[in-house]
Amino acid sequence: MRPQLQTPAQWRLKPLWLKALVFISSAMPLGWYAFGIQADSLGANPIEAITRGLGTWALNFLLMTLAATPLKHFAHWTWPLLIRRMLGLFAFFYASLHLLSYLWFDQFFDWPSIIKDIFKRPFITVGMATFLLLCPLAMTSTDGAIRRLGLPRWKKLHRLVYLAGILAVLHYFWMVKADMRTPLMYAVGLTLLLGLRAVWLLHKHRRPNRQ
Ligand code: HEM
Repeated sequence: MRPQLQTPAQWRLKPLWLKALVFISSAMPLGWYAFGIQADSLGANPIEAITRGLGTWALNFLLMTLAATPLKHFAHWTWPLLIRRMLGLFAFFYASLHLLSYLWFDQFFDWPSIIKDIFKRPFITVGMATFLLLCPLAMTSTDGAIRRLGLPRWKKLHRLVYLAGILAVLHYFWMVKADMRTPLMYAVGLTLLLGLRAVWLLHKHRRPNRQ
């Protein structure tokens, strides 16, 4: 049997399916916590489970966003670039919910106490700084923003994501008091992702004709 030829219109459906699949998968952690609250299955301290879980997912999405470019350069996978913006926005979304959960469940919107906490506990200070770095990135994630800023300026601004990654891991390290294994795992992952970028840039610098 002759293989069916696919028209360009059919090919264009593929990114759409990929994006739909990634969107649904990315929303699942939220569904998991909503279900957990409903079913009372989040353990003895559900508030801590929610705040920590949302923070972990924010970091997971941040690292996934940072993985798209190295995957293109080293594995020649271009599909992660199609979902990079969505992953970045999910990182911001989960970070916002993480912040909301802290403001609401931890602090009951007691603003003087929140301000005191930001100055008193370094891991909260670093968490806030990370969130503030993510804000302009999320706000300039549209095609319109890229056009208005111009690609070179937009790219320069979006380099803040590296600093956000470093600060997010530092926030995790500072929060943990005893078992450092998980934050260490994230630190190794982040170092690998940033290291691969550095290797690629060095390589490009030596052979400027490569894309
Ligand atoms: C917006 C400001 C932020 C505040 C106020 C904040 C606050 C907190 C708090 C209260 C905890 C739990 C501490 C505990 O249970 O003792 C936590 C944990 C955590 N946060 Fe944040 N955070 C912020 C931003 C972020 C951001 C932007 C990220 C990642 C992109 C992040 C990632 C994490 C991670 C990974 C944990 C540890 C989760 C675990 O223990 O499994 N946080 N944060």
